[in-house]
Amino acid sequence: MFDLTSADLLDAFTRELRLCKLVPGEHVVVLAEPGSRGDYVAAFGAAKTCGAHVIAATVPGGSPAPMPSTHTGAGPGLTSVLEDRAAQALLKSADLVVDLTREGFIHAPVQQEILRGGTRIIFVCDAPDVLIRNLPKESDKDEVLKGVELLASARTMRVGSAAGTDLEVRLQGSKPEFQCGFADDPGRWDHWPSTMVLCWPEVSDGRIVLAPGDILLPFKEYVRDPVTLTVAGGHITDVSGGAEAHLLATFFEDADDAWARSLSHMGWGLMRTADWFATAMYGKGDLMGMDARAFAGNFLWSTGPHPVLGRESYAHLDIAMRGCTVSVDGADVVVSGRLAA
Ligand SMILES: [Fe+2]
Repeated sequence: MFDLTSADLLDAFTRELRLCKLVPGEHVVVLAEPGSRGDYVAAFGAAKTCGAHVIAATVPGGSPAPMPSTHTGAGPGLTSVLEDRAAQALLKSADLVVDLTREGFIHAPVQQEILRGGTRIIFVCDAPDVLIRNLPKESDKDEVLKGVELLASARTMRVGSAAGTDLEVRLQGSKPEFQCGFADDPGRWDHWPSTMVLCWPEVSDGRIVLAPGDILLPFKEYVRDPVTLTVAGGHITDVSGGAEAHLLATFFEDADDAWARSLSHMGWGLMRTADWFATAMYGKGDLMGMDARAFAGNFLWSTGPHPVLGRESYAHLDIAMRGCTVSVDGADVVVSGRLAA
């Protein structure tokens, strides 16, 4: 019988590339590594369908990160691209890069260099039905931009929860950003699927209490016992609780990384099609975990790399929480885990 899995994805990739404003005559590079999903070659057909020039480039796998580099969200990049000026030149020469590598280049400085030339990059690595279920809409961008505007003009974000979270975040200089699931502007990087507002604060203080059911990434595990993290000046100073508290404390210790206990990006998700249970239903190698990261009404916070403060780190955790209330200068954006009207 024929292998039809990539044909099944052609329509979704074509819609995605149209959201990326791919037009006839533009140049697309589909970047992959040997371990990339074979069916995502649909990106190649989609680029042709849009009338673009397209090259499929497969580079050797392997990452400088000290953890298994597959779908973690740490995004240090592939060593083969980081060390190869010819590969970088090819990516820079494209109008649009469809990044199908298993880890992306999310926190790699070389990605910023490629974007500065005007190349747009769309990163894709979740399971096919996760992509299709969460195919973005053009209006998603308008919605996240409103959140960015709100953060840009505000001084303080507060996060609270019935579980005991009480965090105050200073927003000055926190460089609010968004992900909307498509990369349409020159020099834009985005991630399919995603719909979220985030910022990169330096200073936050208080307490984060993880409740059962919250999700620890990149481990792709649900919290079972409450975890209390004490935060002072943007750094985690204490971790207490049960099994997951022990896991996090051990991760910080093992990372042997100056920034492991420092907070990184934080914000909230707006992806209404996201499924909180995707984490439970897929193999870890099939999933990046964007259902958890971008879930509408979550509070997503992280540790480790902080490009705004020039902190390079491979010790990146993303932690997605339900049931929080998030307010920006007193205006609620998320109330008890649901997007405010
Ligand atoms: Fe992250």
